[in-house]
Amino acid sequence: RDADGRRLVELAKRRGFFLQSAGAYGGVSGFYTFGPQGAALKQAIEDTWRDRFTIQEGNMEVDAPTVMPEPVFEASGHLDGFDDMLVECPECGESHRADHVVEDNTDLEDAEALPVEEVEELIAEYELVCPNCGAGLAGQAVEDFNLMFETNIGPGSSDPGYLRPETAQGIFIEFPQLAEYARNQLPFGVTQIGRAYRNEISPRKSLLRVREFTQAELELFIDPEEDEPDLGPVEDVTAPFYPATEQEADDGDPYEATIREVVEEGVVGNPWIAYYLGLAKQWYDRIGVDMDRFRFRQHLPGELAHYSADCWDAEGEVDGDWIELGGFSYRSDYDLSKHDEHSDEDFTVFKQYDEPITTEKALVDPDMSYLGPEFGGAAQDVADALAALAERNPAAFEEAGEDGDVTVEVDGEEHDVPVSQTDFSVEEVTESGEHVTPHVVEPSLGIDRALYTVLDHTYRADEIDGEERTFLELPPEVAPTTVGVFPLMDRDGLGEKARAIARELREAGLSVTYDDAGAIGRRYRRQDEVGTPFCVTVDYTTIGEGRDDDEGEPGTVTVRERDTTAQRRIPVEDLAETLTALRDG
Ligand code: GAP
Repeated sequence: RDADGRRLVELAKRRGFFLQSAGAYGGVSGFYTFGPQGAALKQAIEDTWRDRFTIQEGNMEVDAPTVMPEPVFEASGHLDGFDDMLVECPECGESHRADHVVEDNTDLEDAEALPVEEVEELIAEYELVCPNCGAGLAGQAVEDFNLMFETNIGPGSSDPGYLRPETAQGIFIEFPQLAEYARNQLPFGVTQIGRAYRNEISPRKSLLRVREFTQAELELFIDPEEDEPDLGPVEDVTAPFYPATEQEADDGDPYEATIREVVEEGVVGNPWIAYYLGLAKQWYDRIGVDMDRFRFRQHLPGELAHYSADCWDAEGEVDGDWIELGGFSYRSDYDLSKHDEHSDEDFTVFKQYDEPITTEKALVDPDMSYLGPEFGGAAQDVADALAALAERNPAAFEEAGEDGDVTVEVDGEEHDVPVSQTDFSVEEVTESGEHVTPHVVEPSLGIDRALYTVLDHTYRADEIDGEERTFLELPPEVAPTTVGVFPLMDRDGLGEKARAIARELREAGLSVTYDDAGAIGRRYRRQDEVGTPFCVTVDYTTIGEGRDDDEGEPGTVTVRERDTTAQRRIPVEDLAETLTALRDG
């Protein structure tokens, strides 16, 4: 195990997984460049996510812009509510997450949920200091800091835009069109994978908290009254669950249960969320997250994002801390209602009844010329309130009688309107369906955190022939390179043969590295360090001059397996098929 992640970060830089970007200019916190190994690993992880959450589920994938205009984030609530708490050191000027300063130095675990004034008081009470220079922070103002990166769309500053803080909004704002693509049939799911941006106050732990990262999100639109998931495919998936009530209890502990059990026992209240927890657990296992260092934890009430009615996190243990890898949120009709309210489009779907339904409806048509002068600017609001009252409580009009008044409240002020000034009637209305605002269930997975956790969880060190070896036990499906091809040495035709084999394996769709530099043992170590699961060595036996290996058949190569270092001989003509089968499990 790599206790503090330092060896992993060193390996990541040296072998091309990831490095802090713009190093030539001093580097910039919270931005990373994926090197050749990292980019390949990231792509492979994304491919498995796409396979599981888009293709296997029959969902639609979209690709929206990363910059969006201000009204989107006014409607979504991010402009007002997407803040973290900031405290600045009076000595060194460094900014910190005030809630983290509190959590890291007290027993409190959920400082994020507290109001800024209380966090200020806690900083003073515990005499907390700047994590950078040790100066006291007591008396410093704690402020709400909006995490969105702002930009201008076009020249001038009149048209502000923001880099998206979540990919989800790019899906929500296109809902009217997407619903048409889905022929207005609920439930339907839309996925997106792409960059999101948050101007984090204090990026930390390399890829775990960065300012630009990749999210893989699925927004499932459901009719909350009717749609139920088929738990079948995931019902037996077992995981540790840590509900909010257990976290609040002193001796609370996560407990192992199946997806079916947590739904039946009401531990996970929403069966759709439970369904996606099952799917996600299978996926995290598939990409190499250690299932002994994995759990699901429910958000405490104060922890919920502004749009969320309930949320469970998938968490992985990294360097002794539980890290949020993904969030599974029940967003209810929050987003679609907001965009419906703020835009000119309709964010509902029309739900056709099985048969048209005829009901009695109370309608009211107030005399606007009467409402006009007497009610001033509130006239339309009063008319709307009368219509709402007629629908909600038609008896109010009947009870008042033709000569009486009905009372409506607008902005806290009561208005008495004579029934004689309204045209009140009860009519039979036949409707073929109704408009419903779908609810949203959202599995949102962070790719960078998944990638880092996979590297951390697959990092191994052992000893071979008295020498320490470091290797990554990556699942073959996601390893950046599937096979290393080596000639024993580049002479006597061995190099040519090995290069020809490498070419054939690439043509068969395998990811191949060719290497003829240095001793064969060192070449194996190089591939071990980047997690290459198989190495093929071309020797004299391969080319029919078996002087180095009396046991091998001519025309065979050795295939060496990374984790066990076991070797076996395989005929060259079977190589592509054998390695493809090994990669695909
Ligand atoms: N649309 C829902 C949403 O954005 P979130 O919990 O804020 O929810 C989802 O983010 C995931 O994105 C997280 O679980 C995490 O994996 C990843 N993520 C969020 N902020 C991040 C950051 N600063 N650095 C790396 N990954 C981050």
